[in-house]
Amino acid sequence: MNVIVTGAAGHLGRLVAEQLLERLAPEQLILVTRRPEALRRLRATGVDVRYGDFDDPASLRDAFAGGDRMLLISTDAIGRRVRQHGAAIDAAAAAGVGHVVFTSIVNPVADNPTGANAWEPGKTETLLQQSGLAWTLLRFGSFAELVLPPAATAVQNGQLVTNNGRGRLVPISRRDCAEAAAVTLTTGGHAGRTYEITGPQALSASDLAELYSDLSRKPVKVLQLNDAMLNWVLMGIGTPMPFAWRLTAYGRAVRLGYFDVVDPAFERLTGRAPVSLRDVLVAQRADLLAVA
Ligand SMILES: NC(=O)c1ccc[n+]([C@@H]2O[C@H](COP(=O)([O-])OP(=O)(O)OC[C@H]3O[C@@H](n4cnc5c(N)ncnc54)[C@H](OP(=O)(O)O)[C@@H]3O)[C@@H](O)[C@H]2O)c1
Repeated sequence: MNVIVTGAAGHLGRLVAEQLLERLAPEQLILVTRRPEALRRLRATGVDVRYGDFDDPASLRDAFAGGDRMLLISTDAIGRRVRQHGAAIDAAAAAGVGHVVFTSIVNPVADNPTGANAWEPGKTETLLQQSGLAWTLLRFGSFAELVLPPAATAVQNGQLVTNNGRGRLVPISRRDCAEAAAVTLTTGGHAGRTYEITGPQALSASDLAELYSDLSRKPVKVLQLNDAMLNWVLMGIGTPMPFAWRLTAYGRAVRLGYFDVVDPAFERLTGRAPVSLRDVLVAQRADLLAVA
């Protein structure tokens, strides 16, 4: 069985490749990327590294040839992803790939305040389900590693400035997401299944402030702002407007419960509990305290 991973040079793609190499021989792995040169070391171990770009559908014919299963990693090109992912699904079907696993997000619904961050994966899910291919959806919670920059800022300022309200998020490490993907790609019984891949614990803003305080041994208080105020504050410190809006929309989505999903799927797939946010931050303690 040959397994394709798209977007293989990204953070998640590299971690999935590592996980797959613990389960498959190098020659069973096909890594597809726009940047083959970034995966030179893996190619030297016997892995098949190929060029492929969803914006260049013609490149996908050769890229996907000979693959049996494929992990479709959602791209970061927000606004263009439905077309990109649709091209990848069509190319997988044309190349005879039997089963596609897609990296989605929890609550990929049209009314999710994160907008295209959510509805584009949702639309891709539908395209894949209608493709005639066997499919599996991995709906990831927020990546725990992305909590580090706001956590370090909160430690520096002694204040967690947020519009999360009483909402909670359930961070999951990218490495755990990669392991869930590798298990799904290399074992049976996952066709037609949707898995919510989330961390072990739902955390409110107060829980987060307590955790940051504990890890830094500095007091961290929560300052709750409404959406407009948070947006002004972010732009006031130089955050470009689209990015400020994105952060505010994420907080609104957390506040409204769109990220408050705790699910046992990860543990069922891997036989162990997911790593906690605390452990992810402890592993990056130097960065957490770097600006303190
Ligand atoms: N759950 C969450 O909290 C969360 C947060 C952020 C992002 N995400 C989603 O998860 C994905 C993986 O996260 P990450 O941290 O690994 O992101 P990343 O390191 O920024 O990687 C971006 C990914 O997009 C791929 N890509 C971009 N344009 C492409 C194109 N034209 N054709 C094919 N692939 C393309 C890249 O592949 P190559 O460079 O190898 O070609 C790479 O895998 C993101 O792209 C995003 O959709 C989820």
